[in-house]
Amino acid sequence: MDLPSLLFCILLEVLAIKCQEDPQERIVGGHAPVPFSINYIVSIQTTHHQHFCGGSLINKYWVITAAHCDIGIHRMMVVAGEYSLSIYEGTEQKFVPQLLVPHPKFNSLTNNNDLMLIKLKTPAYLNRYVSIALLPRHEASISEGRMCRVSGWGYTSPTIGLIPSTLRTVRIPIVSPAKCNSSQSLDGRITENMICAGFSTGGKDACQGDSGGPLVCDGRIYGLVSWGRGCADARFPGVYTAVSKYRRWIDDVIFSYYSKCDNF
Ligand code: ARG
Repeated sequence: MDLPSLLFCILLEVLAIKCQEDPQERIVGGHAPVPFSINYIVSIQTTHHQHFCGGSLINKYWVITAAHCDIGIHRMMVVAGEYSLSIYEGTEQKFVPQLLVPHPKFNSLTNNNDLMLIKLKTPAYLNRYVSIALLPRHEASISEGRMCRVSGWGYTSPTIGLIPSTLRTVRIPIVSPAKCNSSQSLDGRITENMICAGFSTGGKDACQGDSGGPLVCDGRIYGLVSWGRGCADARFPGVYTAVSKYRRWIDDVIFSYYSKCDNF
């Protein structure tokens, strides 16, 4: 190799390392996980491949997400095995929904009961890149201060609406309903079907586009990204659907649509 090419290669190397460091904050205040280590997460996209919500596979036919992610069955598709949204990695599995089951008591004004189940037309093929997440037991509670992980392809900054290309993740503590509902914070808007999480100093949070995605504590999906006031604001924790409240409803829905031919 001649000297100019050698120098050019070195320059490329240096640039690659600098780019990997990625000083930007994503999810908000998070980082990129090891690729495909969070392999139960799915990207919910429009039929034009625009990511708009997250979700999780809970068995090979069913995805759990937020009810406010319902844009109509014919307008959405589900992508599993996804890491970078902008690169075709060969690990992606795309699905068309067969059925949307939003919670019958979802209230779009208060965001109460913000969850939805999506049945896929064809089953996911489970492998290193695509797997299933566990749900908490019915009514299992998670106490203040427990550390949980939220992940997604949502905005990386509360002010600039940036959708990152790769998945991001961040660890945040559970905030008590009393603190979250206080007049200095979300002031009575937290129902018993919601969980709050975030640091009292702010800086780390889910944001727009993370909706429906998983908040995982002790290896189970205790929360679904639901709503917030701004993102990563020290006064306002992120608000999540309390999945354990719906364990029975989820099991009932899946059971009622179970068909012997699907054999899952
Ligand atoms: N509703 C938002 C969405 O549709 C999620 C907002 C979460 N906000 C927060 N600060 N944790 O993507």
